[in-house]
Amino acid sequence: MTDTTPGPGSVALVTGGAGGFGRALTAKLRALGVTVVLADLDSERNRQVAAELGAPFVALDVTDRAANRAVVEQVEAEHGRLDAVFLNAGIAGGSRETLDVDEFLRVVEVDLFGVVYGTEAALPALRRAGGGSIVVTASLAGLSPMATDPGYSVAKGGAVAFVRSMAPRLAGEDITVTAICPGFADTAIIDPIRGEFEKAGFPVLTAEEVADAMVAAWASGEPGAAYIVQPGIGAVPYRFKGVPSARTATGETAVVPEALRPPSMR
Ligand SMILES: NC(=O)c1ccc[n+]([C@@H]2O[C@H](COP(=O)([O-])OP(=O)(O)OC[C@H]3O[C@@H](n4cnc5c(N)ncnc54)[C@H](O)[C@@H]3O)[C@@H](O)[C@H]2O)c1
Repeated sequence: MTDTTPGPGSVALVTGGAGGFGRALTAKLRALGVTVVLADLDSERNRQVAAELGAPFVALDVTDRAANRAVVEQVEAEHGRLDAVFLNAGIAGGSRETLDVDEFLRVVEVDLFGVVYGTEAALPALRRAGGGSIVVTASLAGLSPMATDPGYSVAKGGAVAFVRSMAPRLAGEDITVTAICPGFADTAIIDPIRGEFEKAGFPVLTAEEVADAMVAAWASGEPGAAYIVQPGIGAVPYRFKGVPSARTATGETAVVPEALRPPSMR
């Protein structure tokens, strides 16, 4: 487990930083003395949000692979280092009844490929900082099927699988990759369905509860962990069941060839 302490002198980048989780997270990190660069789609409103939080703003569409790299270079050039990246930008689909493949692809592009591009861009800078943390905002929908939004479930499930696959590769470099898997939380993304929760008396998380889990994941996250955040539960690591191993002809557990395992698992 990496134990880096977010505090004065450390620099964090938050994508989707002007949204509900991004704002709550930025405020918490700023209160700890962290320099936070807030990245989001370019708009007057998003620039204003950053200014109010005391965070420099950078315009970023996370689906633009080259732009992810340029933003990280800008952060290093202006602030000297990068210690933590919160890959948090995301959208949900809106077609609850039909399979809209164009929408499906768009959600996967933002919620999954945005994470992959963000990771690719951040890794060289985290290495130059001597280690660091990548915290991906996935979702409970990545662990449990979401029948009303399959594209979202695929993207978030992919993000969890990406985090779990990357973690052992980076373990030897002191770079911790974790996923946050919140249930429904009170941000703009649930605007179209908020009324249903209110009618049913269904509890939703506050953005602050999720932001607490994100800060904890930076400070003391277990590599590859996916932290469920649910109302009344707090943040708990999801216990993956694992899969049955292959058996040899003589019935023994087969071990994956050493060359196919990451260096940290050889
Ligand atoms: N609120 C929930 O119920 C909930 C639950 C689980 C996971 N999440 C995830 O949390 C993350 C943050 O969402 P939120 O709840 O704060 O919602 P939000 O809508 O308030 O914030 C999302 C932010 O992402 C930004 N964004 C969207 N597309 C982008 C792009 N292409 N490039 C850069 N930025 C982009 C938006 O401008 C917005 O600021 C998302 O990944 C979302 O899927 C939300």
